[in-house]
Amino acid sequence: MNIAIVGTGYVGLVSGTCFAELGNTVICVDNNEQKIADLNNGKIPIYEPGLEELVKKNRKKKRLSFTCNIKDAVKKSKVIFIAVGTPPKDNGDADLRYIEDVSRNIARNMNTYKVVVEKSTVPVETNKWVKYIMRLNNNKIDFDVASNPEFLKEGSAIADFMHPDRIVLGVESEKAKKLLIQLYKPLKAPIVITNIQSAEIIKHASNSFLATKISFINAVANICEKVGADVEQVAEGMGMDKRIGRNFLNAGVGYGGSCFPKDVKAFIRIAEKLGCGFEMLKEVERVNEDQKKLLFKKIEQALWILNEKTIGILGVAFKPDTDDIRSAPAIDIMKMLQGEGAHVKAYDPKAMEHAKDILPNVEFCKNAYEVAKGADALVIMTEWPEFKKLNLSKIKTILHHPIIIDGRNIFNPAKMKKMGFKYTNVGNL
Ligand code: UDX
Repeated sequence: MNIAIVGTGYVGLVSGTCFAELGNTVICVDNNEQKIADLNNGKIPIYEPGLEELVKKNRKKKRLSFTCNIKDAVKKSKVIFIAVGTPPKDNGDADLRYIEDVSRNIARNMNTYKVVVEKSTVPVETNKWVKYIMRLNNNKIDFDVASNPEFLKEGSAIADFMHPDRIVLGVESEKAKKLLIQLYKPLKAPIVITNIQSAEIIKHASNSFLATKISFINAVANICEKVGADVEQVAEGMGMDKRIGRNFLNAGVGYGGSCFPKDVKAFIRIAEKLGCGFEMLKEVERVNEDQKKLLFKKIEQALWILNEKTIGILGVAFKPDTDDIRSAPAIDIMKMLQGEGAHVKAYDPKAMEHAKDILPNVEFCKNAYEVAKGADALVIMTEWPEFKKLNLSKIKTILHHPIIIDGRNIFNPAKMKKMGFKYTNVGNL
């Protein structure tokens, strides 16, 4: 099937490449000429494991192409996915200007029947506006709008696309339903057919629920710390209940990324504007913000005065296997430390290039040992696998003091204490 993906960010580029891998002919469109030029030269703008190889393979097979020309892409495609950004406004509302702009451009270039699919995360009822704008700009050609939210996690986006728990299709016509079912058939995954509003809500509700699980276990971790309970054991005991599940019950410094913070805020605003309110999600946000303050307090409790101290930070990305630092807890912590006059050293396997732009005074190092050398304390902010394999005896000798604050519970407390570290983490004794 001939399809177009408008927007070549994390979602658009991964989805377009995977659709091509499934045998479709995919045109990815973006208005960022540099990004399109890079993609046409085989340069991938984001780090996502396995993506570069898949893009290269499908470009070679001429199933995947990149262009700034939306007109051409619309005319040649039967299904057009809108995968542009919906960044948060200051008040938390999703900014839908790019959705509107793309809807208008698609409408103006439609030559035959199209299915226009919301892949971007959008507030419920956005589909009505998309239809309205499209009809306003083209009252001749028949089309359908649909909602097909994505559930891709950064760092495992290709696997998440190719092996989804479910595919959600919000449709309002048999024609659109048949086309989208045909498109997703090769994945052999469960397909949930809903109306469009329900599909739009599933995305915000799913992300908000996952964020709620994380803040819930973090609030439990704080209780564990007061009574000598071990939050990892609590999470294991809870998670064996199939109704709860162990995933997303990892206590730590809290969630970041481009989705959870944005989607929780958007869902709160949606509920408020509908007159329902969603106080529970405001508490989820508060707990998440407090986790960073609590970790900062642990650094102060270990060092007392931070002014002129050297603090080593391991991990800058908001999670492992990505270079994305959007809303990464590490960024806030490093700014808070610098605010107290500390000298900050940091290392991340993938995310330092992005971090250098916003943290010019941090000393970025080429590995974890360089960070630890001469530092008064070492703080784990991202659970990269390589940090779990560090030579801790070597770390202990090169640290100014054997102090480790573990914001992602990657080390075993008993072992760390046995080795003579002054070790603290999040709710794990
Ligand atoms: C999330 C959703 O999982 C995905 O379905 C959606 O499409 C996009 O948003 P992503 O933000 O890429 O994906 O990563 P995810 O693995 O969900 O982690 C989000 C944040 O939560 C990270 O900062 C991670 O460190 C944190 N997290 C995750 C926890 O603190 N504890 C956990 O148990 C799980």
